[in-house]
Amino acid sequence: MNFSEMDILLKKSLKPGRYIHSVNTMKVAVELAEHYGEDVEKAKVAGLLHDCAKNFDDRETKRYCIENHIELSPLEEKQLFLMHGAVGAVVARQKYCVEDPDILNAIKYHTTGFAGMSTMDKIIFLADYIEPGRIHGDVQETRSLAFIDLNLALISAFNNVLKYVISQNGLIHPFTIEARNYILLMTQKTYEN
Ligand SMILES: [Fe+2]
Ligand SMILES: [Fe+2]
Repeated sequence: MNFSEMDILLKKSLKPGRYIHSVNTMKVAVELAEHYGEDVEKAKVAGLLHDCAKNFDDRETKRYCIENHIELSPLEEKQLFLMHGAVGAVVARQKYCVEDPDILNAIKYHTTGFAGMSTMDKIIFLADYIEPGRIHGDVQETRSLAFIDLNLALISAFNNVLKYVISQNGLIHPFTIEARNYILLMTQKTYEN
């Protein structure tokens, strides 16, 4: 399937607002990939398709998880919307014929992050978070860091996400904490005791 066929199919599958968000994410992902010397074509496809399972309701998400042997933790059972990443990777492979593991991984983990994220994973996570349609709270700080230091921008995004979830008394996915710790340890940005 070529890119314009993917685009047509995605547009048919998503609500208009979600499709616009997907195109915006794709554009920022391409800019970040150019800036950080990553594969622009992969960033383009991953950015466009990252939310390809976002339109599924909980029942459909659960069905995909069962049929594709995606095990759900108790937290994920309660927060099935987080699974549109993992399910999205399945849909990207089955419906959009994407085979590239870099693209599929970036789609899979764009909702939570994970320890050991590749540059492509970071680019998609960040593009999704800072695309111009996003006007949530502290996005500006993250946006200003995105083209300066990818890791610092990621930390900023994780901090904002965690602060928000805590303010809502929500459940925190362990992958997000592990992703944040991993980058902090890797970049030695932790505070000394
Ligand atoms: Fe998403
Ligand atoms: Fe998204």
